[in-house]
Amino acid sequence: MINLFRDEEPMDLGKARQLLDYLSRRSVSFEMPTVRAYRRMSEAERDLFNERRLQFIANAIVSTSAITDFWKMVWDASIDNYGKPWGRQGVLISGPSTSGKTSACVAVMTSMLRRVSRGFPEWRECGYLPILYIRAPKYATPRGLLLAIAAALGLEPGGRASLEDLSVMVAPVMADVRVRLVIVDEVHRMSADNVNSVTTADLLKAITDEIPATFVFSGIGIESSGLLAGALGQQLVGRNSRQIMRLFSDSGPSERQAWADVVASVVANGCLFGESDVDAARLYNRTKGSLGAVAHVLNTAAKRLIMSGIRPEEEVLTDDLLEAISVPLGVEDDSPLPLDDPMVTAQPNPKQRTTRGRGHDSAHSRSTRPS
Ligand SMILES: Nc1ncnc2c1ncn2[C@@H]1O[C@H](COP(=O)(O)OP(=O)(O)O)[C@@H](O)[C@H]1O
Ligand SMILES: [Mg+2]
Repeated sequence: MINLFRDEEPMDLGKARQLLDYLSRRSVSFEMPTVRAYRRMSEAERDLFNERRLQFIANAIVSTSAITDFWKMVWDASIDNYGKPWGRQGVLISGPSTSGKTSACVAVMTSMLRRVSRGFPEWRECGYLPILYIRAPKYATPRGLLLAIAAALGLEPGGRASLEDLSVMVAPVMADVRVRLVIVDEVHRMSADNVNSVTTADLLKAITDEIPATFVFSGIGIESSGLLAGALGQQLVGRNSRQIMRLFSDSGPSERQAWADVVASVVANGCLFGESDVDAARLYNRTKGSLGAVAHVLNTAAKRLIMSGIRPEEEVLTDDLLEAISVPLGVEDDSPLPLDDPMVTAQPNPKQRTTRGRGHDSAHSRSTRPS
């Protein structure tokens, strides 16, 4: 029996040590045993293996062309920023809810930690915290954001610390522990067009000036939000390259291929023994090209098969099984997508694998733009 209540390592990505442990442990591929080897496992071994499969599925990230482009921007900015005392570059990543922004950030942090570890394997022994991930607190003021950064660093500034106290405390620690990449996610939560957005833009610019790290700001529609309005915001825009997360399109053969490839990659990450022949076009119809939605359907189906304990060769994603899993709210049945961004369509990643190529039927040649 799979044990869903095993003691787990704590995993608050907003605490740098836990984040770095998580990123170091994160596997980007999963080795499947042969069916024979699986059969030979004791019941306890099999349960453990199945728990590992479920864990992998829950953390798997498919490398799309958007993620590759985003990583390149972050890496290029890091190189540009190296040794540069002012005018450092940052990266903005923007897109609708569930378009894969946080997943892309996790993929980029994983790649960055690999690079750091290759260049300086002793970072851990030295007590360095090369990457911070901060979720902007809701309605955060600059002080709230600095408190989140302090918490990520393991500092306890006390409830009364002023903005000034916090800046004085945080900046030198960030330099000491050699923070090189800071991801501020959910930036839209602090960017409502209110008085704070002026000071928030001010703070963001000030910390990016002060800290010799590369900053990534991630959020819904941030390029058009209040945060980046005004002179300071515009200065931030000018300093940042931008990655927009898009829905996949079905408007041409290369777009359809890119979708089929991404579906095949999600299927492969399902770690099943059976060979699944998934109808990518049908899934496009249901999910409207949302990677988040298709990952939900395919991953849920894979997890159900694993939990069901059926024979390994029968672990196959069938149309019936997929059909029984509902697409997350707001995506299926022509209901409006939960979008805050102008909808743009994804570029194919030529390096990905393929899936059943039924071609897309005319019923879903509709535009992927929101009505
Ligand atoms: N590249 C990807 N590979 C696999 N799954 C993904 C990918 N991008 C998004 N997902 C799935 O979609 C869900 C929503 O993605 P997330 O990164 O949280 O979106 P956002 O931060 O834009 O709201 C995730 O839980 C994940 O299951
Ligand atoms: Mg997110």
